[in-house]
Amino acid sequence: MYNRRHFIRQSALAGAGVLLTAPAFSWKGSFNEKVVVGVVGTNSRGHYLARMFAQLPSVEVGYICDVDATVMSKTIAEVEKLTGKRPKGENDVRKLVEQKDVDAIVIAAPDHWHAPATLMALKAGKHVYVEKPCSHNPAEGEMLVAAAAKYNRIVQMGNQRRSFPRVMEGIHELHQGIIGRVYFAKGWYANARKSIGIGKATAVPMHLDYELWQGPAPRKPYKDNLIHYNWHWFWNWGTGEALNNGTHEIDVMRWGLGVEYPSKVISAGGRFAFQDDWETPDTQTITYEFPNNTAMLWEGRSCNDFDEMKSGRGVIFYGEKGTMVMPGGDDYKVYELGGKLVKEVKTALQQADATNTMGMGEKLDSLHLQNFVDAIGGKTKHTSPISEGHKSTLLPQLGNIAYRTGHALYCDTTNGRIKNDKEANALWSRTYEKGWEMKL
Ligand SMILES: NC(=O)c1ccc[n+]([C@@H]2O[C@H](COP(=O)([O-])OP(=O)(O)OC[C@H]3O[C@@H](n4cnc5c(N)ncnc54)[C@H](O)[C@@H]3O)[C@@H](O)[C@H]2O)c1
Repeated sequence: MYNRRHFIRQSALAGAGVLLTAPAFSWKGSFNEKVVVGVVGTNSRGHYLARMFAQLPSVEVGYICDVDATVMSKTIAEVEKLTGKRPKGENDVRKLVEQKDVDAIVIAAPDHWHAPATLMALKAGKHVYVEKPCSHNPAEGEMLVAAAAKYNRIVQMGNQRRSFPRVMEGIHELHQGIIGRVYFAKGWYANARKSIGIGKATAVPMHLDYELWQGPAPRKPYKDNLIHYNWHWFWNWGTGEALNNGTHEIDVMRWGLGVEYPSKVISAGGRFAFQDDWETPDTQTITYEFPNNTAMLWEGRSCNDFDEMKSGRGVIFYGEKGTMVMPGGDDYKVYELGGKLVKEVKTALQQADATNTMGMGEKLDSLHLQNFVDAIGGKTKHTSPISEGHKSTLLPQLGNIAYRTGHALYCDTTNGRIKNDKEANALWSRTYEKGWEMKL
């Protein structure tokens, strides 16, 4: 467990002016300097995160938590294979957060669990790495920002591009004026997802605790086309492609444009490609206007993977003097007005693959995990505090609210709240299963 001796050493460095962010934590525990993490939800992304955390020298994956016993065993075995040390298994996140030998919780369960599990972990004194989107709805996101401050812990969202070196460099260049004032950004995501069909009500598999899987979400009967992964396309648990993948590009656009909350949001789209149980749009555009003569547009195509700029995902920034393209991975190009390429920075790590549903590749993604661990120790500047993660999650949430209500939203540009709109504000929060309500 991360300990006091390490903290004192860091404090000494702080005194010498070396430390960037002073930790306000008091560490108790054994004299082992590893940060012990418990990983929650390990079928796909969580399995990948468990693998990556296990390979960081400063981390021990102490626990694997999943409500699917088959998934939990698979990930325990994988971590043991990588490290020689077998993590403990715990299927109930409420019990996991109470474990004294855990410093941080990593959450890659479905979206309806993100904010409730983060809050439980914060109340128990743990740091949290929560996958994007950090919340299922805007009210939960606001609560997480308040909770991170109240319980004084690091909360990092899985918007990993914040830690990609060339994305950071490109954004710095934008802010330094490489293309003049940037006033518009366009982001896109494209995949070729298949139909999920019409689900049949069937018995819950023996290895799955469906009651705990649902947790905070109001109860619905089990169907055979929901678990795993397809819950993304049902509003009760998921948040659609706008938050599933849009959060990444919207986060980069918001960062590059230097904007926080929009003044106006509109969205169009639908479930166009197939007629099946899928509820969220498979084709969607969201347009945002910001107060400083700035706008951005996100386009999602879940079922047509036609590339733009030779990439299934990416961002283009438009400025007074030129254009910057970030094609989804850790690289960028700069063009003058008129289209002449004047700068190209290529990644030494991995290219973007929009169809990879686990992530960008371990070499790149692990930089974000290392930043989280280093931020816990106060060794580095935290690249993705939850206050920023919340803003980048709120934007696609507003897009979905505009889509679902079918009309433009007008927002308070100081906090993103929707103005004078009862129908839209009904979607600001959610109904919880009785007994699972979130309380700060
Ligand atoms: N940052 C990224 O690039 C990135 C990439 C992929 C996925 N994600 C995010 O990761 C999350 C998981 O996505 P996925 O594709 O792995 O989903 P998935 O459905 O394949 O896996 C979710 C796992 O969580 C488990 N689970 C559900 N409720 C649980 C609970 N209460 N406690 C413990 N385990 C629980 C399920 O049994 C399953 O094993 C999503 O929120 C997704 O948006 C992020």
